[in-house]
Order: sequence, then structure tokens, then C-alpha cells
Amino acid sequence: MNRASFYMLAAVCGFAAAVWFKPAEIRAASSSTSPSLDYEFFKTKVEPVFLTKRPGHARCVVCHTANNAPFHLVPLSPGSMAWNDMQSRQNFQLIQRVAIPGSPDSPLIHHPLALAAGGDPHHGGGDQFASQQDPAWLTLKAFVMGEKAK
Ligand code: HEC
Repeated sequence: MNRASFYMLAAVCGFAAAVWFKPAEIRAASSSTSPSLDYEFFKTKVEPVFLTKRPGHARCVVCHTANNAPFHLVPLSPGSMAWNDMQSRQNFQLIQRVAIPGSPDSPLIHHPLALAAGGDPHHGGGDQFASQQDPAWLTLKAFVMGEKAK
């Protein structure tokens, strides 16, 4: 075999491999085991966590509609106690900066958790959650891990 036909053969094999392996990749990406964030779960379970007052702390919504942290929420409409559907959809887009589907290292669950409970050393909003048993923290975690609304 001369050099040119060797390269030709190598190129053909490479191409064939790329074509053959592609379907497996696509299958993995769309497989039901890869977690994704669920809008209904976000709206019905997660947004209420951002609106709830915890003893000794301000509510997430108070700081995170105003500051420039990567975690940002749409301001509530005047006189309103919750977000409407359009605002919630915006929040759902924004949350993807700090909620990486399936990752327990997502800032959303890591940052407001107390250091002693495995969280980050400093959060401008304090240790909002003292332990990983806190029901509100478990809700945030379930969301990040891909739990769907029933
Ligand atoms: C008193 C104001 C305040 C409150 C209340 C507050 N935060 Fe924060 N948060 C901050 C500030 C300031 C930062 C940016 C500085 C820092 O990283 O701590 C921040 C950063 C963050 C980040 C971004 C981490 C990163 O850098 O990617 C997340 C996520 C977060 N907060 C989640 C929350 C959650 C969830 C709540 C409610 C349970 C909350 N915060 C309540 C002030 C607040």
C-alpha cells in the first residue's frame, strides 16, 4: 500500500467511526436518566422557598431581585406576593445560571447552606439553611436533581 492510499484508508475509517458512534452519543444525551430542570416543580415548590422568611434571615427575594449575584430573580409586581406565570418563566431561565441539572455542586444548593453542613464558607445572605435535613433545602436539592412536579 502506498502512502497516499494509507491516508485515504485512515480518513475513511475515521469518518466511518464518527458516523457509527454518533447514534450512541445522541441516545445518551436524550436518555431518561439525564436529569433536567422541571418548570412546574420550580413554580410550585421552589419559588415559594425564595419568598419564605426564615428566622434571623432576610428572604431570598429581597436581596436577589436587587443585587448583581449570579442568582437573580425578577422583581415582584407592586402589591404582589408572588410571581405571575410570565415572571416565573423568566426566573426559570435565570435560575439555570446557578442550578446545573444533576449536580450537587450547584451554587443554588451549595451557597446558602451552612459551612458546617457542607456548604460554602461565605454567603452574603447568611447560612439560610443550617443542615441538609432542612425541608426547604431538600426542595432546592430535589429541583436541581431533576425532580418533576407530580
Ligand atoms: C441579605 C441579602 C441576601 C439574602 C437574603 C440571600 N442572599 Fe444569596 N447572595 C447575597 C449576596 C450579596 C451574594 C453575592 C456574594 C456572595 O457570593 O455571597 C449572594 C450570592 C448567592 C448565590 C450565588 C453564588 C454564586 O456566586 O454563584 C446564590 C446561589 C445565592 N446567593 C442563593 C441564595 C438563596 C437560595 C437565598 C435564600 C434562601 C439567598 N441567597 C438569600 C445576598 C443574599
